[in-house]
Parts: sequence; C-alpha cells; structure tokens
Amino acid sequence: MGRNAYYQCRTQMPTNLIIGRHSSISALATLGAVSHNVDMLTTGMLDLEQEMGGEMGPEDIYRAGVYPTVIGCDVWVGHNAVILQGICVGHGACIAAGAVVTENVPPYAIVGGIPARVLKYRFDEATREALIASRWWELPQHIVRTLPRKDVAKALTIANAYWQS
Ligand SMILES: CC(C)(COP(=O)(O)OP(=O)(O)OC[C@H]1O[C@@H](n2cnc3c(N)ncnc32)[C@H](O)[C@@H]1OP(=O)(O)O)[C@@H](O)C(=O)NCCC(=O)NCCS
Repeated sequence: MGRNAYYQCRTQMPTNLIIGRHSSISALATLGAVSHNVDMLTTGMLDLEQEMGGEMGPEDIYRAGVYPTVIGCDVWVGHNAVILQGICVGHGACIAAGAVVTENVPPYAIVGGIPARVLKYRFDEATREALIASRWWELPQHIVRTLPRKDVAKALTIANAYWQS
C-alpha cells in the first residue's frame, strides 16, 4: 500500500493486491475478489474433512489467480464497490458506489454500474495525459505538500519543474 493511501472500515482485501499512493478506499469495498471454479462438479466444498486434511487445495475451489490486482495512484474506490481479482485500475480513476468492476479501468475514468462502464472522465484528454506524465504522486512528500489541489495547471507546472531540475 502506497504512501498517503487509506482504507475505511470493513473493506476486504485478499492477498496479491497493490494499492498506489494517495488512493482512498471507502467502507465495505472489496478489492481483488477471487472467483470460484464454475466448471467443476461444485463451486463449494465436497467435504470439509477432505479440505481440512489437506487433500483439497485452494486450486480445487478458486480459479488460478496469476495476476495481482492493481489499484493505481490517486484512485477513489466508492462505498460497497467490488473489484474482481486481476483487475488493473488506472491512476486517477474513480469507482462509483456499488460498482462491480470486471474489466481494467482506464486512467482518470469514473466507472459505475454492474458490470462497471465508463460514466465519464475526470478531466479532458490533454489534462489526463499531462497528469500521468507528471507522475506527481512520485514527488517527494515535501513537494507534494505544496501542490495546490484546486489548481491542476499550477500543480502540473510545479511537478514538471521539479522533474526538470
Ligand atoms: C461516481 C460518482 C463519483 C459520480 O458523481 P458525479 O460526478 O456527481 O456524477 P453524476 O451524479 O453527475 O452522475 C453521472 C452519471 O453517472 C451515473 N451514476 C452516478 N453514480 C452512479 C453509481 N454509483 N452507479 C452507477 N451509475 C452512477 C448517474 O446516474 C449519471 O448517469 P447519466 O449521465 O446517465 O444521468 C458518485 O455518484 C459516486 O458513486 N460516489 C461515491 C460515493 C461514496 O461511495 N462515498 C464513500 C465515502 S468517501
């Protein structure tokens, strides 16, 4: 979990999860929900004793999860949203309350619904590209503190000046 990121109560976060800097995870969100195998006899347990005895492993229940779930920097995940395992949420994106995210989310998109679709973007394309190029979230903390949150253009100028210095 990156610097200045936080999560609220009753969030569910399985392992194999990366959360970038400055990201906000609202209450009851589930990040990296794994899916059970649906093409076997049962999606549940055949026999609890079999499982407890080690004869049944996670691979018998869960789909193989080869990729981590990645939440970028400056991402806001709304209340009660579910992000499935292996999804990549781009920098600056917002996940609406109650969304179920089944596909990767582009940077600075606001997505919502079940399954989640792009509702709009936070900024125009040129600003989105400038923000991503600025990597402001990687600046040292003492510079981040000086960034004006209400003036994106000025913040970009400060970030770019730092990288060029
Ligand atoms: C996604 C969100 C940020 C959008 O807010 P907004 O910028 O004010 O957007 P609007 O209300 O203008 O809605 C834009 C569109 O998205 C839709 N929409 C808004 N919230 C939605 C949601 N949760 N799920 C699905 N669609 C949603 C609206 O119906 C509207 O659709 P339309 O253009 O077809 O009419 C907000 O609705 C939301 O879900 N916030 C999360 C709140 C939360 O969880 N807070 C936790 C404490 S921090």
